[in-house]
Amino acid sequence: MSSQTTSAPVESSKREAFGGRWIFILAAMGSAIGLGNIWRFPYIAYENGGGAFIIPYLVALLSAGIPLLFFDYAIGHRFKGSPPLAFRRMAKWTETIGWWKAMICVVIGLYYAAILGWAASYIFFSSTEAWGDDANAFFFEEYLQVSDTPSLDFTIVPGVFWPMLAIWVAVLIVLGIGVRRGIGIASAIGIPILVVMFLVLVGISLTLEGAVGGLDALFTPNWEALLSPGVWVAAYGQIFFSLSVGFGIMITYSSYLKKRTNLTGSGMVVGFSNSGFEILAGIGVFSALGFMAQASGVAVGDVVESGIGLAFVAFPEIISQAPLGLGPIIGVLFFGSLLFAGFTSMISILEVTLSAVKDKTGWSRVTVVSTFGVALALLSLVGFGTTSGLHLLDVSDYFVNQFGIVAAALVAVVSVSWLLRRLGRMVDHLNKVSSFRLGTVYKFLIGLVLPVVLGYTLVLEFIGQMTADEPYGGMPNWYVNTFGWGMAVSLIVIGFIVSLLPWAKGSALYTEQSENEYLLDDADLTQGKHAANDTEQEIKS
Ligand code: ALA
Repeated sequence: MSSQTTSAPVESSKREAFGGRWIFILAAMGSAIGLGNIWRFPYIAYENGGGAFIIPYLVALLSAGIPLLFFDYAIGHRFKGSPPLAFRRMAKWTETIGWWKAMICVVIGLYYAAILGWAASYIFFSSTEAWGDDANAFFFEEYLQVSDTPSLDFTIVPGVFWPMLAIWVAVLIVLGIGVRRGIGIASAIGIPILVVMFLVLVGISLTLEGAVGGLDALFTPNWEALLSPGVWVAAYGQIFFSLSVGFGIMITYSSYLKKRTNLTGSGMVVGFSNSGFEILAGIGVFSALGFMAQASGVAVGDVVESGIGLAFVAFPEIISQAPLGLGPIIGVLFFGSLLFAGFTSMISILEVTLSAVKDKTGWSRVTVVSTFGVALALLSLVGFGTTSGLHLLDVSDYFVNQFGIVAAALVAVVSVSWLLRRLGRMVDHLNKVSSFRLGTVYKFLIGLVLPVVLGYTLVLEFIGQMTADEPYGGMPNWYVNTFGWGMAVSLIVIGFIVSLLPWAKGSALYTEQSENEYLLDDADLTQGKHAANDTEQEIKS
C-alpha cells in the first residue's frame, strides 16, 4: 500500500453490501449460471469424451475452479474493492491487473447483451414458430441480416437493436438501484425462477421420444479421449468461464460481504450448484437433440451443435417438430431460461466495470451508471445491434476468452503467489473467516498447478492461431488483427493507462479504507515490517 493511502483521510462512507450470506450466494450463482452452462457445456462434454469427460471436468473443478473461486473471494473480501481497488491496495503496481479484468468485462458485457436480445426475441418467435421451415436461414438472414463478410458497415438491424436496448435498460436499472436492492433482489428472484423453468424444461425433454438416444450419445464414455491434452484444456476452459472466475466478478461480489462471512463454505455451494446446473443442462439439451435426431431419422451426432447454432437453429427445429402443443412451451422455457440465466450473469459482468469506475472516481452509483453505463450501452448497440454484429461477436468472444481471461488469471495468480508472496496471507484470511479450512494442498494448487495449466492453455491456443492456415474463423487479416489481437492487447494498454490516473480524493481508496480490519497488516507488510515470504517456503515445505 502506498504512503498516499495511509496518510489519507480515513472515515465515513461504508461500502455497499449484500443483504446477507444467502443473497451473496444467490448472486454468485446468478453470475456463474449463464450461457456457458446452457449452450456451451453440453456440446463441450459431447465433443470431449462424452461420459468420460466427467473425469477431467471434476479434476478441473476441484483443482482449479473452486481454488480460483476462493482466491478471488480472498482478494475481494480482504481488500474490499472492485478489482482495481483491491489490487491497488495489495500493491500499487498491480492496479493494472484490476483494470485489465474490468476491461475484459466491458468486452464480454457488450456482446452478452446481444445474445440476451436474441433470446428475448425468440421467446416471442416461439409462439408462432416465426422461423417457418428454415430456422437457419431465418436466424442468419432474416433476423440478424448478417453481412456476407466482416466489415465496418454497422447498419442497424431494428429487430436486434430494440430487444438489446430493452435488455440494457433493464440491466442498468438493476445496477443503478444498487447492490442490496438491485443485484441482490434481481438474483434472489431470478435464480429460483430459472431453476423451476429449467427443471420443467428438462422434465418435458425427457418425455420426448428419442430422449434416451440423446442421453446415450452424451454419456457414452470415450475413455481414449482422456489421453488427449486438448480434452483437459477444454475441461479447464469450461470451468473458468462457467464459474465466472478469473475476470473480476467474484472479487467484486465478495467485496460486498460483511467482515465475517464463511467464504469457502459459500464457494463450495456456488461451485457445486453451478456444476449441477451444467449437468442438468446436458441432460435437457441432449434429450431434446435425441428427439430431433429420431424425428429426422438421423444420428444424434448429425444434429449436435454448439452455442449459437444450438440455441437459435437446433432448438427452433426441435420446437417445430415437438408433439402438438408442446413446441411453444418448450420455446418459452428454453429461451426464457437463456434470458434469465444470462441476465444475472450480465449484471455481474457489468458490475465489475461500473464498480471499478465508481471506486476510482468517487462518483455516486447513479452517476456512474447514467454516464459510463449508458456509454457502454451505446457502444454495444452500435457494435452488436447491426449487420456486422455476429462477426464481431464471434471474434471478440474467442479472443477475450482465450487471450483475455486466461492471461489475466495467469498474471494475477503468479503476481500474488510469487511476486508479492501473498498466498499465505490469503489462505490465513480465508481460514480466519471460513468453515472449510485450507492448507498446503490449496497453496500447491494455486501456486503451481494453476500457473502451469493456465500457461499451457495460453501457449497451446497461441501456437494454434500462429500455425493455422488462415486467420481466426477464416476472417480477413485486418479484421482479426483489429478486433481479435488488437482488442486483446488494447485491454492491457488501456488498463495500464487508467491505472496511472490519480484516485479522486473522495474515492473509495481513501474513504472506505477503515472498513477493513486487515488492511493495516498489509500496509505493514508492504513497508517491510514483516517478512513476506509465504508462498515459496510453504510450497516447498
Ligand atoms: N459464468 C457465465 C456464463 O456461464 C459468464 O455464461
